Amino acid sequence: MTDVVASAPGKFVILGEHAVVYGKPAITVAIDRRFTVKIRKGPEFMINNEPADINQNPHLKYISSLHDSVPVSVFMDSRIPPGSGLGSSAALSAAFSMAMRTMNGLKTDPESIARESFDAEYYAQGRGSPMDTSTAVHGHGIALNIPNCGEKLWTIDKNSNSWDIYGIDIPQMTFVIGYTGIRAPTGPLVEKVRKYKDSNKFAADVIDEIGDVTLEGMEAIKRNDLVRLGELMTHDHKLLSILGVSCDELNKLVDVTLPYSYGAKLTGSGGGGCMISLTDRPDEVSKAILSRGGVPIIISTKVEGVRASMT
Ligand code: PMV
Repeated sequence: MTDVVASAPGKFVILGEHAVVYGKPAITVAIDRRFTVKIRKGPEFMINNEPADINQNPHLKYISSLHDSVPVSVFMDSRIPPGSGLGSSAALSAAFSMAMRTMNGLKTDPESIARESFDAEYYAQGRGSPMDTSTAVHGHGIALNIPNCGEKLWTIDKNSNSWDIYGIDIPQMTFVIGYTGIRAPTGPLVEKVRKYKDSNKFAADVIDEIGDVTLEGMEAIKRNDLVRLGELMTHDHKLLSILGVSCDELNKLVDVTLPYSYGAKLTGSGGGGCMISLTDRPDEVSKAILSRGGVPIIISTKVEGVRASMT
């Protein structure tokens, strides 16, 4: 019997999370932590050899519903902590979409996978941007809604928002991730920001400002100006805190790493999960993260996007 194995990388966000949901710019980088799925046609839906209720997994449910095929047995193996802001569910969606399309003999071009996996994320989260899923599909670095920053990959529209997605060159930079150990699902945090924005002009202004900071950050990346990029990241963390998506543990990790960093901020939806530090002193940053009860995660970038093989 033929198995299909597919995997996709997680990511961190240099600048722009949350605001990107409203069509503002964002910049992300894929990391060498992957979500791997193996699928095999079978008599019933199973996860890791146990009969499972597909309704409990909205990402798999959505993608399965698009493929009029027999049920599958899914084996999952992830090195991306779930609910950590590192794009675990997007990597799962991209890998599962790739695996199902490969098994069913459908097109597996990156744009088709990016669209399908974004629709799955949107369905599961109730709202969102194609930032994480496009990063999981393309790998490397990507930017959204920043004209002339790289090679245009695809455009995705949803409701009244539109995102132009570009593959970008990220110069050699060292980032250290600090994990709070707190699992924080994305959907409720995205909804919290929506409510704040819809009830408060001040919150809408903060979202606009995150967009401006991100555009300036892209210019700093092009100049390889780590000092300015770091300042913008730290400022972005303050703006995200005003939106109510940081927490004490994230703020502590940001504070304790700043003396050794160009800048630091939460990454992803926040509420727990991870922060990132841009630094040329990764050992001191890692020690500082440990000293406040966080877990440093050493990552490499320049990683490949979604891929599949038959076994
Ligand atoms: O926490 P994560 O890895 O799911 O990232 C969410 C990023 C948001 O901008 C908050 C939401 C989105 O869909 O872009």
